[in-house]
Amino acid sequence: MGPLLLIGGGGHCRACIDVIELQGDYRIAGIVERPGEEHRVAGYPVLGSDDDLPRLLRNTRWALITLGMSHGAGRRRELYHQVRASNGRLATIVSPLAHLSRHARLGEGSIIMHQALVNAGARIGANTIINSQALVEHDSTVGDHCHIATGARINGGCRIGDGSLIGSGATILPGRCIAPGSRIGAGAVVTRDITSAGVWAGCPARPLEEHR
Ligand SMILES: CC(C)(COP(=O)(O)OP(=O)(O)OC[C@H]1O[C@@H](n2cnc3c(N)ncnc32)[C@H](O)[C@@H]1OP(=O)(O)O)[C@@H](O)C(=O)NCCC(=O)NCCS
Repeated sequence: MGPLLLIGGGGHCRACIDVIELQGDYRIAGIVERPGEEHRVAGYPVLGSDDDLPRLLRNTRWALITLGMSHGAGRRRELYHQVRASNGRLATIVSPLAHLSRHARLGEGSIIMHQALVNAGARIGANTIINSQALVEHDSTVGDHCHIATGARINGGCRIGDGSLIGSGATILPGRCIAPGSRIGAGAVVTRDITSAGVWAGCPARPLEEHR
């Protein structure tokens, strides 16, 4: 079991800890968190802040970005590049309670949470979260730095652009494409391709401003 650094110590981090502990491939060395936050997260020590990353990665090469995506993909993307620039290595984690087809591919730094299903021919990029009970059906592609939230359903042959959020319980109909940087609201049903980034919600999904 190699030591692993977790970057970001909030709610998503605690959920990741549960998966990592159950998987058992890594020993959690500690957490990187903003100054002034808790000294321990789920019993693991806070070792420093983002500024300490180069130093921390000299001792612990493996890292996982456990910051959530509530403010978009930007900070998770920056941290990913910071880890790589510091010669860190990004762990790939799959919950033993999830199913990742052996005919699917998963990029570095991505995590598949409990009870998610990634089917044959699916390709998941780097630094992406496939959250609890999410579905990525056959032959779909999910880009880098995405978050497929709890219970979301990506049906067969979809393409989800880099840095997108697919909200909790949203459904993407088969074969639809989602532009990079899109935010699909919880419970939305995407019936047509989304060709430009924006916030979409409802059934069928429409730009959020049309709901106001
Ligand atoms: C769509 C979303 C991105 C919009 O966030 P936001 O820009 O901060 O918008 P707000 O929360 O201020 O809501 C703006 C309006 O849209 C409505 N709205 C928000 N989310 C909505 C949704 N998913 N479906 C329908 N309407 C929605 C709100 O009711 C509000 O209406 P009002 O102006 O009449 O009060 C967000 O609400 C959402 O659904 N995020 C996904 C959450 C999620 O699944 N996280 C992952 C958990 S694992």
